[in-house]
Parts: sequence; C-alpha cells; structure tokens
Amino acid sequence: MRTSPANVAAHEALARRFSAVRALSAALAAPLSDADATIQSMDDASPAKWHLAHTTWFFETFVLRDGVPGYRLFDERWPFLFNSYYEAEGERHARPRRGMLSRPTLDEVLAYRAAVDAAIDDAIPTLSPDALALIALGCQHEQQHQELLLTDILHHFSVNPLEPALWPGAAKVPVAMPGPIGWIAGSEALVTIGAGAPPPGSSDGFAFDCEGPRHQALLTPHALADRTVTNGEWAAFIADGGYADPRHWLSDGWAWVQANSIEAPLYWRQIDGVWTRFGLDGRRPIDPAAPVTHVSFFEADAYASWVGARLPTEFEWEAAAAGADPLSGNQLDAAGPVEPRPSALGPAWFGDVWEWTGSAYRPYPGFRAAEGAVGEYNGKFMSGQFVLRGGSCATPRGHVRASYRNFFYPHQRWQFTGVRLAKDL
Ligand SMILES: [Fe+2]
Repeated sequence: MRTSPANVAAHEALARRFSAVRALSAALAAPLSDADATIQSMDDASPAKWHLAHTTWFFETFVLRDGVPGYRLFDERWPFLFNSYYEAEGERHARPRRGMLSRPTLDEVLAYRAAVDAAIDDAIPTLSPDALALIALGCQHEQQHQELLLTDILHHFSVNPLEPALWPGAAKVPVAMPGPIGWIAGSEALVTIGAGAPPPGSSDGFAFDCEGPRHQALLTPHALADRTVTNGEWAAFIADGGYADPRHWLSDGWAWVQANSIEAPLYWRQIDGVWTRFGLDGRRPIDPAAPVTHVSFFEADAYASWVGARLPTEFEWEAAAAGADPLSGNQLDAAGPVEPRPSALGPAWFGDVWEWTGSAYRPYPGFRAAEGAVGEYNGKFMSGQFVLRGGSCATPRGHVRASYRNFFYPHQRWQFTGVRLAKDL
C-alpha cells in the first residue's frame, strides 16, 4: 500500500490512541494482586484478569489473526478461554466459570498484552482500512471493559467481609445540597435521533451500529429533571416505606424485591442508624447530595412512581442532551477513586451515573448488524433489556455521546446506574 503523509498522520493518531487505551487498562488493574484479579463473585461480573485478556484476544483475533499474514497466536489454547460470546469464533469457556482460571497467571496475561501491543504497533502501517477500523472498534470495546473491570472488582470486593478499598481515596470536601429539581420542558416535535455512519477507517465520529440508522421520532409534550435523584432523596423513599409498598412497583419488580429481600440500593447498609455505601474507596456514609447509584430499572421505575413522575424515553433524553458537551461531567480520566459526585454546575447530561430510560433496547428502523463475527457485537442482545444514557463516573472520558445506548436487564444494578425523572406536560 502506498503511504501518503495523510495516512502516516492517521496511523500515528491511531497508534497513540491504541497505546493510551491499553495503558489505562493496565493502570486500573495495577493495584490488584493475582488473587484479586482472578476471583469472580457472580456470573455477571468477570475477573479483572479475564477483562485484560479478553480485550487483548479481540485485537489478536480480529486484527492480527485475520489481518496480518503469517501471524502466530500467542497461545493457541487461549482463544477458548477469552472469547466472550462470539458464536462465529466457536466453543468457549463458560462465563460463570471464569473465576476458576488461576492459570494463566496475571503475569502471563500481562505478557500476552505486551506481545499483542507490540504486534499491533508493528502492523498498523501495513493494515487495510477495514483492519484499521477494527483497531478503532477494539479501542471502544476495551473502554467498555474498563468500566466493567471497575464495577466488577467493586462487586468482587463487596462480598469480602473485609470490604477492601481499591483506592482508599482522599477526604471528601463537603458540598451543599442541590436545590429542588428544576424541569426542562420539551414540546411536541419530530426529532432526528441516532448517529450517522462514521467515516471508514476513522475513530472520529465513531458510533456503535446500534446507534443508527438516524431516523425521526415523535416526542409528546414532556419535561425532564435538570439533575439526577440524590442519595438523600432516595433515603426519604426508603423511610417512606417505598420498598414495602407494592403500589409503586411493576409486577416483575415487586417479585424481584420479594424474592431477593431488596430494601435499599446495592452496597447500602445501615450502621447505627446511618446509611452507608460501599465504593471503590471502601465503606463510607452516603453523601446525601450525591446522585444515587447502583439501583435497578425496577427501583428507578418505582421511585418515579412514588413521586408521581416517570422515566424519560431514550428519545426525550437524546433530544435534550444533543447540544451538551459529551466530554463534560464526572467521567473516568485516570486510575483513582471513582464515584458519583454532587454537582452545582446546572444540567449535566454526561457522567456520574448511567440514567435508566423507559425505552426497550430494540433496533432502530432499518438496523442491520455488520457482516462477520463483529456483527454479534450489539444486535443479538436486543431482547429484554432497557436503554441507559449519559455515561458514568467509571466511563472513560471520550467514550460516550448523546446517541450512545447502553443496555442492561431490569434487575441488574452493579453498574453505576441512577435515575433522572421525567413527566408528561
Ligand atoms: Fe467484550
């Protein structure tokens, strides 16, 4: 391939981005022992070591194996261990048993990362535009796993009675309570939703396939809260018997509350009459001014019902956030304490907590999954899950945008998930 100065600049930019993303994963995992990085506390949460290896497998498989003639796998047995859900890539180790993988060791996984990093660096100047686009996708994929690595290690640590802190963290600066919720009115309108196709081979303008095609959606008159619900407000919901009154709950949600004895957000515990929460900085009293987090869709919906409101639709949310800066807000910049923070900066759409919407995660009109294995990335999960918007304190800055659609099952709450209220006008 002839190499133009523009190509050289694009290759260098991609190499820098690849290197920065890979370095952040290593930094997040740096405080972990091999044992910390191996344990798995529930089926949904993967060991940190597995995240480090699986993201590497993605680059090795789809870029090096498929795009570099003569490339030899680092270890031919490992794709079985580190393929997540790609049926097109064949059989794989069962997800609930990832915590059984005491071997390879953490050091061996880090050596795997170093070898694949070097091979990608060498290959970039020779790769096809399609292979370069897969590196860009792999960087986005690894950023998703960086957030999962943090939320998963939080869950692993939470089941240890010692409740270790990943980052002990600094003393908190007291912040004033936010005022009452303000409402941002939205009128009836036909709005354009979704992301257009990114330029081939470019990470600029990147969007996942599920964010398109762009299409029009009808909004009815509504209003969105100018901030998310706080811990203090959530404590009032608990004190009012919110978890004990079936009138607030969807039928599936009420069954979930009863079957699992749910009485508060995940990681909350009352000690001597004081509500505390467990975070990556250990167990501390809840900050009443900070956004509530680790609540399920069922809890978010019940809270909205309790206050006579509802959850936003994903289209109301996207239309309202379209003009906001997706690089703003409390998002992940580096390895260090991560938690939702009180903000006095006015309407913030990005960071702190993922916001549950009332919208089912389903394809937009005209959606087609990509050809090949990476076509399994999003489309096959469009069943039984709800869309969340806006990113969290554990989302790497630069990863989300107004059209970004995250998705989880309605009972799941180990991510940094919170609530923004909406109402009809
Ligand atoms: Fe993955």
